[in-house]
Amino acid sequence: MAGRAKNCILRMETKCATPMKDLPVLKNGTLVLRAIRDDDTDALFRLFREEAVTRYMDIDSFASITQATELIRFLRQKWRKGQSMRLAITLRGQDKLIGTIGLHHIQLHHYKAELGYELLPAYWGQGIMTNALDLLLQYAYGQMDLNRIEAFVEPTNEPSLKLLLRLGFHYEGRLRDNFHEKGRFTDALLYSLLRKDYEQISIWA
Ligand SMILES: CC(C)(COP(=O)(O)OP(=O)(O)OC[C@H]1O[C@@H](n2cnc3c(N)ncnc32)[C@H](O)[C@@H]1OP(=O)(O)O)[C@@H](O)C(=O)NCCC(=O)NCCS
Repeated sequence: MAGRAKNCILRMETKCATPMKDLPVLKNGTLVLRAIRDDDTDALFRLFREEAVTRYMDIDSFASITQATELIRFLRQKWRKGQSMRLAITLRGQDKLIGTIGLHHIQLHHYKAELGYELLPAYWGQGIMTNALDLLLQYAYGQMDLNRIEAFVEPTNEPSLKLLLRLGFHYEGRLRDNFHEKGRFTDALLYSLLRKDYEQISIWA
């Protein structure tokens, strides 16, 4: 049984958010979000070897392409277990992976998940992640029927904080020494967007 459905049954829940059968392809006028494929390995390596991309993550920049191969394998395992879904961000009409976006720590019985995203620096500041989040959140609250999307952000990650605030995420507090990464503890700022927040935000209308 798929992990995503099992959790609901084990907890004798009568209702859960909706399990996903297949990774979706999400499109708008600018972007296509699609499954990460084996032929994205090189682009994924180029993305994660950028120090600017991994600066606020609990991983070091990739030094070898085999790390990208392993990441693809890891993401597929997590998807099969119903624990996460990660999609490639591509510009419409060009199939090249320029970033990724997705949900992890998916808990259908609590109708919630955690957000993750990153983009090649050459594409920053053009509204691409705003656009990608528009697609992902529509899917998360629509097809998946989630109620709460969380984001954990390092206090100095200004681009990410600005992005979440502009999209209507609410600040919930500071988690002290929440992550251990690159040899040190770091705090995390917790943000969330509830379905009721999302439905009230004009940017999504
Ligand atoms: C955080 C990150 C994903 C932001 O991506 P981005 O595509 O540059 O974000 P956006 O372009 O949507 O928004 C950033 C800026 O572009 C501006 N922008 C330009 N054109 C825009 C448009 N058409 N629509 C919306 N915003 C636009 C926004 O106003 C915003 O400016 P501001 O921050 O001064 O308010 C990117 O910096 C990144 O990949 N960082 C490294 C990985 C990372 O830290 N991930 C998050 C971990 S919590």
